[in-house]
Amino acid sequence: MSFYIAGTGSALPEKVVTNDDLAQFLDTSDEWIVTRTGIRQRHVLTGERLTDLAVESAKIALRDAGADPSEIDLILCATMRADTVTPSLACAVGEALGTTVPAFDLNAACVGVLYCMEIADAFISCGKAKAVLVVSAEAMSKLLDWTDRSTCVLFGDGAGAMLLRAGEGRLAGELSTRPDTRAIRMPNIEGNSPYNRTEQEKLALQMDGGEVYKFAVNAMGRNIEQVCAQAGLTPADIDWYLPHQANVRIIDASLKKFRIDKSKVLLNIADCGNMSATSVMVLLDQYAKKGTFHSGDKLLLVAFGGGLTSGAVIIEWKKN
Ligand code: ACO
Repeated sequence: MSFYIAGTGSALPEKVVTNDDLAQFLDTSDEWIVTRTGIRQRHVLTGERLTDLAVESAKIALRDAGADPSEIDLILCATMRADTVTPSLACAVGEALGTTVPAFDLNAACVGVLYCMEIADAFISCGKAKAVLVVSAEAMSKLLDWTDRSTCVLFGDGAGAMLLRAGEGRLAGELSTRPDTRAIRMPNIEGNSPYNRTEQEKLALQMDGGEVYKFAVNAMGRNIEQVCAQAGLTPADIDWYLPHQANVRIIDASLKKFRIDKSKVLLNIADCGNMSATSVMVLLDQYAKKGTFHSGDKLLLVAFGGGLTSGAVIIEWKKN
C-alpha cells in the first residue's frame, strides 16, 4: 500500500517582476534571460508572509481532496527558508489548520517535494499514516543578492500543497545525492556569540552555474531511467513529465536522449522562474487545475538541487 494524490493547491505572491523590470537596475536584458533560461517573469514576495501562501495552498489542496484537516496524520513541508528558523513552517501550517499531528520541515533544496513524497510513502506503507499533507514554500527572493545578475534573475517565490492518501498511485521513487557543499550554497547567520571565531560568509545564494548545469543534466537523465526501470515502464510510457523548472536548456538536454514528444513535458518556468522545492508542486497543481491529467495517466516528477540532491517519482493519476 502506498499513496495517491487526492488533492493539490498552490498560491503565488501578487507581485510579478518581468525581465524588463530587472533590466532597470541590473546589467541584463530580456533577450539574455529568455535565451539562457526560458524565464520571462517571476512572482516575488512583497508584504505577504511565506506562511500565508503555504496555508492558502494547503487549504486549497484539502478542499480539492474533499478532506477535513482532522484526517491528516502528518504534515511535511519542503522549504529552504521558512519565515522563522523555529517554529518550522510545517508547525505554522498545522497551527493554521488546527491539527496536533507530527509536523516538520525538510530541506533537500529543489528536490524537497520528492523527498517528502518518499517519506510519506514510508509512513503510509508501514501503517503509521493514512493521509499526509505535503506543503512546499520558497522565499527565494529573500536568499538572493539582488545586485548579482548571475543568480537573482533565475528565481521566484511561491507555495504549493498536496494531500496524499493511502491507496494505489505511487509506482516508483528514487532519491540520491552527490554531496557537494560548494556548487550551490547559502550560508547561515553566525550570530553574535562573543566566543565565535567563525567569519560570517556573505548572506546570499552562491552558485556555480556551469557545474550545476552538468550535474543536473546527468542526474535527471539517470533518475528517469531508474524510476522507469523500477516501475517496469519505458520513458515512452510516461504521459506527462514534470521536471524541476530551473532552466529550459537543462530540461531539454536531460530529456533529449529519451526522444520524448515535447508536448508531454510540462513547463511554467516562463511565468514563475525557478521556485526551488515548490516548482514541481505548483506545476502539478496548475496543470491539474487545467484538466490536463486523466485517471490512469502516468506522471513522472524529476528534480535536482542544492546538496547536490536529485530524485524522481512516478505517480498514476487517480482523479479526472
Ligand atoms: N544577464 C546578462 N549577462 C549575464 C547574466 C545576466 N543575467 N548572468 C550572467 N551573465 C554573463 C556572465 O557574466 C558571462 O559573461 P562573461 O562571459 O563576460 O564572463 C556570460 O553571461 C555567460 O555566463 P555563463 O555562466 O557562461 O552563462 P550560461 O550560458 O552558463 O548560463 C546559467 C548561466 C543560466 C546560470 C546556467 O549556467 C544555468 O542554468 N545553470 C544552472 C543553474 C540552476 O539551475 N540553478 C538552480 C539550482 S536549484 C537550487 O537548489 C537553488
